[in-house]
Amino acid sequence: MVTFSFFVYSVLAIFLLLVGITFHNSSKSFAPFVPCSRRELPRIFEAIQLKEGEVFYDLGSGDGRVVFYAGEHFPVKAIGIEMSFLFFLYSWIKKLFVSESQGIIFKMKNLFFEDLSQADAIYVYGMPKVLEKRLRFKLEKELKKGARVIAYGFPIKGLTPEKVHQPNRKGEKPIHIYRF
Ligand SMILES: C[S@@+](CC[C@H](N)C(=O)[O-])C[C@H]1O[C@@H](n2cnc3c(N)ncnc32)[C@H](O)[C@@H]1O
Repeated sequence: MVTFSFFVYSVLAIFLLLVGITFHNSSKSFAPFVPCSRRELPRIFEAIQLKEGEVFYDLGSGDGRVVFYAGEHFPVKAIGIEMSFLFFLYSWIKKLFVSESQGIIFKMKNLFFEDLSQADAIYVYGMPKVLEKRLRFKLEKELKKGARVIAYGFPIKGLTPEKVHQPNRKGEKPIHIYRF
């Protein structure tokens, strides 16, 4: 009985530790886990305009909702980069239960270490300061000509958007589209 209780408490402690590490990691460097609303996904992908065969990224993919939407609705390679173990694990397990999952890839990685030179379209929902002071330089250095970046919620200061989709109703956020 003592052994069983010890086992249960150990599992609980490990779980709480992982949750703690996850939220600590997710608040580091790019943005904390605040997902976009699922109701915004059609609007976001209307702005992205994915074409067959394109390579699409969500940098900081959280629970993977944007990547799953891309992979399930468009014939593209949809890649989610997520640094936090629990969100990565959640997305990886969810992928096992998704039928249209051939083009979907999740990587547990710091997005600043991913080579983005093959990307056609990149979606980001990050903090304004990090977008401006860190991600912008990476995008300018690595993206191929014609690649587009879709910044949800906040603009990437220092870049000029090709188009801005302003919110029309409650719950919607601005979507800035940049072409390189
Ligand atoms: C604002 S949430 C966006 C989640 C998702 N993209 C969406 O729109 O619903 C930001 C995500 O980025 C992740 N993140 C923060 N810094 C990161 C980094 N350096 N590399 C990879 N992921 C990161 C967080 O764990 C969090 O899940």
